[in-house]
Amino acid sequence: MEIPQRNLALDLVRITESAALASARWLGRGDKISGDRAAVDAMRLSFNAIDINGTIIIGEGEKDDAPMLYNGEKVGWVGDGPSVDVAVDPVEGTNLLAFGRPNAISVVGISPGGTMYNPGPSYYMEKLVVSSAAKDAIDLDAPVKDNLQKIAKALEKDTDDLMVFVLDKPRHKDLIEKIREAGARIQLHSDGDVAGALMAVDQRSEVDVLMGTGGTPEGVLAACAIKGLGGEMLCRLNPQKEHEKQALAENGTDLREIFTVDTLIKAEDVFFSTTGISGGTFLPGVRYTGYGATTSSMVVRGRTGTIRRLESSHSWEKLMRFSAVNYD
Ligand code: FBP
Repeated sequence: MEIPQRNLALDLVRITESAALASARWLGRGDKISGDRAAVDAMRLSFNAIDINGTIIIGEGEKDDAPMLYNGEKVGWVGDGPSVDVAVDPVEGTNLLAFGRPNAISVVGISPGGTMYNPGPSYYMEKLVVSSAAKDAIDLDAPVKDNLQKIAKALEKDTDDLMVFVLDKPRHKDLIEKIREAGARIQLHSDGDVAGALMAVDQRSEVDVLMGTGGTPEGVLAACAIKGLGGEMLCRLNPQKEHEKQALAENGTDLREIFTVDTLIKAEDVFFSTTGISGGTFLPGVRYTGYGATTSSMVVRGRTGTIRRLESSHSWEKLMRFSAVNYD
C-alpha cells in the first residue's frame, strides 16, 4: 500500500484557469489570434510555478510559428520535479471564443516523460469515442450503423435514443447521412472535439458518441482525460491536406494503425485539467463580477480515476497587486 502521492492535476488547474481568465476577455470580439495569444502568455507564465521538468509534445506548433509553448519547448520550474510530457491547448476552439459560441475550453494534460504519442506531421485523425459501458462495442472498421446499434445495445437504449457529436465540416457529409439513416440523433458543432470527446465519455451528458475526423493533437489531449474518466477512443490518422499526406508518406507512417487511449498515452500516471472559457453544455464559462471572476474546471487523475469539479473565485484586488498577467 502507498501513502497518498502528489496530484499534479491540482497544480495544472491553476494553469488552465489563468489561460481561461486571460482569454475570456476576447470573447465575441472576432479576434481569435489575440484571444489565443492572451491564453498562451498566461499559460506560459503559470507553468513557471510548477516544479516539473516538462517537454511540450502537443503545443502551439513549430518553434518558428509559435514563439511560446512550441513543440519541444521545456516548461516548468526545473527543480527536482518529475520529467513529464506535456500537451497544451490554451484555447481549444479559437473560433468558438472569437464568436462567443459555446464550449471553448482551456486544456492541459501531462504524462511521464516518453509516454505521450507525438503526432509529428499529422494534423487529422478519425475518432470514435464512447463511455465505459460501450467501450467493447466499438470497431473503427465496422459500418456506422453497426457501431451505433451495438453502442445503443451496450447503453441499454434504442438507436434513435442515441446522440452523436459530429464536427460540422464538409468532410462529414457522408458520415452525417449514415448516422441519419441509422436513426440516431446528431449534434453538429462547428468546433471543439475535445469537449465533444469528454461529453461522449461522461454518462451524465446528453452526448453518447463522438464520430468523425478532428485534430490529432486534440485526440492526444482527449486521451489524457479519458485515462481517468474511463471510456474508449479508437482513432486512426486521416490526413486531409496534400502536404500532410506527403509528410506522413515520407515518414513511412502506417495509416492503417488503430490507436486506443492506452496506445496514445502509454502510462497511468496521467493528469488533466480543463477550464471553461465561453461556457456551454460542458463547463460553465468565465464570469466576470466587476471585482474579480469565477471559473469552472474539471481535473482528472488517471491512476486513481478521481475527477474533481472546481469552482474558483478570483479577486482582482489581491491578485492584481502581484500578478504578472493582467486579468482586470
Ligand atoms: P482550434 O482551437 O485550433 O481552432 O481547433 C478547433 C477544432 O475544432 C478542434 O476541436 C478540432 O479537432 C479541429 O479544430 C478540427 O479542425 P478543422 O476545423 O480544420 O476541421
